[in-house]
Amino acid sequence: MSVYTLALESSCDETSAAVLQDGRTILSNVISSQIPIHRKFGGVVPEVASRHHIEQVIPVIDQALADAHVTLQDIDHIGVTYGPGLVGALLVGVAAAKGLSFATDIPLIGVNHMEGHIFANFLANPELEPPFLSLVVSGGHTMLVVVKDYETFEILGQTRDDAAGEAFDKIARVMGFPYPGGPHIDNIAMEGNPEAIEFPKALSEPGNFEFSFSGLKSAVLNYLNSAAQKNIEINKADVAASFQKALVDVLVEKTEDAAKRTGQMKITIAGGVSANKGLQKAIKEMCERNGFMYYEPHKILSTDNAAMIGCRAYYMAQAGKFSDLSLNAKPSVDI
Ligand code: KG4
Ligand code: ZN
Repeated sequence: MSVYTLALESSCDETSAAVLQDGRTILSNVISSQIPIHRKFGGVVPEVASRHHIEQVIPVIDQALADAHVTLQDIDHIGVTYGPGLVGALLVGVAAAKGLSFATDIPLIGVNHMEGHIFANFLANPELEPPFLSLVVSGGHTMLVVVKDYETFEILGQTRDDAAGEAFDKIARVMGFPYPGGPHIDNIAMEGNPEAIEFPKALSEPGNFEFSFSGLKSAVLNYLNSAAQKNIEINKADVAASFQKALVDVLVEKTEDAAKRTGQMKITIAGGVSANKGLQKAIKEMCERNGFMYYEPHKILSTDNAAMIGCRAYYMAQAGKFSDLSLNAKPSVDI
């Protein structure tokens, strides 16, 4: 008998519902993105996000069930992101999942969004099994995590200030690109010279798995400001390529160092920034140099989606980790 998971995700600006079969087969993954709505504000406006989640959550669940050709009667458990994220946005998904669970008696599972990002790799790579090292790089988080088994995670280090995606988005905004800026920097960087400008790399001593991107961000912003003051026309592609290289170099060097020191031979990257082509290429080359196995992320599964939450929920169900109706949204929660 197959196990069917219904999953919901509403932590930021995507309302998403998915149905999975036996944890690793995606039957549906409906994503309603609010990006065009937030673009005119230059970033996610939490109150606007909550309102749109309320409008979208039921239609998205209906669509996910219809696309998967199942009904609620077929569903074995409901997984929902309860944090980290925007509290008002999270509350919509959590309230919807709790309501469904209460009305149908289908067991409820509160899922950590960052664990969901890591578990997206199990969907992108059917053959992947723990243990492995994961570089998690999203709009709100940057961390190196050893996934020892499906339930044991060890955080080796996190960012002290900005997340990688946050740095991408802030630089992109100042350079005039629309929100979210990461993909725009990624694209234009391909046309630029990554050696054109030398930007600083922080905390690069071996064995240090913490990250800091605020110095890099300030250096790029200072470069752009001083060029504007002096009326010097900048080469946007060179700035983007040099910034991206500085950031990617740090991510890759720390991942390499962490893999060697912890003896991990399998490498995954997770979170929205794992869609970055420069990062993917550099991680792949690093893995080839060291004889590590590199598991490629999948574009749709890298950014926020409910399928990754469903995969995590499935393994939590296997481990008996269910939630009760006291489940609440938590804006900040550790892995
Ligand atoms: O994981 P995600 O969808 O949401 C959070 O949990 O934060 O990540 C969104 C972040 C944004 O900062 C976005 O600019 C970044 O991922 N991102 C990228 C790329 N695609 C998305 N950053 C760099 N290059 C990309 N191709
Ligand atoms: Zn995310």
